[in-house]
Amino acid sequence: MPVSQSTVQLINHLDRDYLRQALERDVRAGLEAVPKQLPPKWFYDATGSELFSRITRLPEYYPTRRELAILREHAGDIVARGGADTLVELGSGTSEKTVLLLDALAGAGRLRAYMPVDVDAVTLREAAGRLAARYPGLAVRAVCADFEHHLALLPRTGRRMVAFLGGTIGNLGPDARAVFLKDLRDTLNPGDTLLLGADLVKDVGRLVAAYDDEAGVTAAFNRNVLHVINRELDAGFDPAAFDHVALYDEVNDWIEMRLRARRAMRVHVAALGLTATFAAGEEMRTEISAKFRPAGLSRELTAAGFAVRRWYLDPTGDFSLVLAEA
Ligand code: AVJ
Repeated sequence: MPVSQSTVQLINHLDRDYLRQALERDVRAGLEAVPKQLPPKWFYDATGSELFSRITRLPEYYPTRRELAILREHAGDIVARGGADTLVELGSGTSEKTVLLLDALAGAGRLRAYMPVDVDAVTLREAAGRLAARYPGLAVRAVCADFEHHLALLPRTGRRMVAFLGGTIGNLGPDARAVFLKDLRDTLNPGDTLLLGADLVKDVGRLVAAYDDEAGVTAAFNRNVLHVINRELDAGFDPAAFDHVALYDEVNDWIEMRLRARRAMRVHVAALGLTATFAAGEEMRTEISAKFRPAGLSRELTAAGFAVRRWYLDPTGDFSLVLAEA
């Protein structure tokens, strides 16, 4: 019998103009805001993706290892409960952890389609090709899109499980999270499921260390957003003039990353015709990474119209996956 051919399709909702305008809008609004802030989305050019990949291997950065351990242990159960034949993955990146879910689906004889969704077309195409080669007969429909804005454009075929792994949900504050979860719920059919990776509240020292590693990789990742803005918007940031700051906000239960100006500066952003003024010691927020308690996140999922089916924690209780049904 001939081995059935896999198919790869790439759907791009982010042309150069769209990305450029979104970056311009975010940087202008962020530099004019008080206090200044930039969204974490713009960390991830090729260099930023590589730096993030190094972060996931740091001794201090536990989330990736913990999530992998959960998937190794429970992928079979997750897939059996989900009943899906189509895996949609938001923020898929290199799709490294996805293989565990795809293997489980294939093992259950139910793997039809994989739909990775990511903002980076290069990483997406590479991952799509690699997975199509690994699973004969798999339909790979890669969607280049921003999961905060393009959920309504995702293909709606098949019985779907939407995986949103890594704890990236934590990049959204409570209000944005409520909107995102509700929008996502609205794109699903009854019986479709969400598999959500969420980092859990824990000892503050370990949380901060995970975002302020000894080797300085996270500091380089943080400063990389300034290199991206220099290149894309012809700006004059001196990244070395900013210190990396990571702190835990115990009121909001989130890690905050900031860049702190080492001296007073004026930074011109030519493409925006804008000059930003920094006072010595001024801090600009570049990321929040929210940490969760299962009870609180269960409430958020329920409020968005999901029914929580099962929590999976790693043995140390550091990280969680939650399976919820639409
Ligand atoms: C990719 C958003 C899950 O918040 O832990 C890692 C990004 N930032 N170190 C996280 C990140 C600094 C990461 N997420």
